Amino acid sequence: MKIAIIGTGRMGKGLLKTFYQAYGQQVLFSGRDVAHAQTVINELDLALQAVPLEEALQADVIIPTLWFKDLLPWAEQHKEILRGKIVIDISNPFNEKFDDFTTAYDTSAAEELQKVIPDSQVVIAFKNTYWVVFDAPVLQGLKSDVYVASNTNQARETVMQLLKPLPFRVLDAGLLKNSRIIERMTLLSSELARKAGNHPRIAFNLWGLEHEGLPKEQQNEPTHLAQVH
Ligand SMILES: NC(=O)c1ccc[n+]([C@@H]2O[C@H](COP(=O)([O-])OP(=O)(O)OC[C@H]3O[C@@H](n4cnc5c(N)ncnc54)[C@H](OP(=O)(O)O)[C@@H]3O)[C@@H](O)[C@H]2O)c1
Repeated sequence: MKIAIIGTGRMGKGLLKTFYQAYGQQVLFSGRDVAHAQTVINELDLALQAVPLEEALQADVIIPTLWFKDLLPWAEQHKEILRGKIVIDISNPFNEKFDDFTTAYDTSAAEELQKVIPDSQVVIAFKNTYWVVFDAPVLQGLKSDVYVASNTNQARETVMQLLKPLPFRVLDAGLLKNSRIIERMTLLSSELARKAGNHPRIAFNLWGLEHEGLPKEQQNEPTHLAQVH
């Protein structure tokens, strides 16, 4: 399986580092300027060749790292080549002041994207993962959560399997409508982190869920949880 990361900004770089560690040459990296994409690869000291956008879009899983305002026109432009593919949406529809969203409460960036590319499977992931968290996804002993949602069960499962080797806790977050909440969780975490003086080193880890490596019968015992954390 080939995974394409499109865009050389903060999230593009973070995703590139993380996916490269797990998938090496299966990762395709591209941006509007291939030479710049190669510079980013070189700066990260990865043994990878940047590819033109058209080549990257041949991948099985595409991760555009654009801002929401640019994402829908971009998807419209490439909807034919994206047909039948999994498109991982990481966008949060912030306004220009970053203090609210441009989407109404009865929709989400992910659902709007799915409307533009109905023949692709939109799957959300990394909506709450600030770019700096890719460098240290375990904070205070807790793995950062990645909520994965899609209207297609198979696509959601494929992406969850894909993310399994990455250093995050990957959770099945159901249908795309849950992205309305998941995206707004980023807005909330941003405000909380700023108040705590810790922005953007903030991540979600929901308590009470299954803990990796811990037998089920021990999962509710606070002492054992404390040991794991
Ligand atoms: N920053 C975060 O911590 C964070 C966390 C979670 C989710 N997100 C989401 O991730 C996305 C990217 O955030 P970011 O912080 O990485 O932004 P960024 O550093 O500004 O990068 C955005 C990238 O989008 C590409 N781009 C810009 N305009 C474009 C256009 N008109 N057409 C095609 N590509 C265009 C550019 O890549 P090229 O110049 O290489 O083409 C640019 O590097 C946003 O949707 C954001 O909501 C961000």
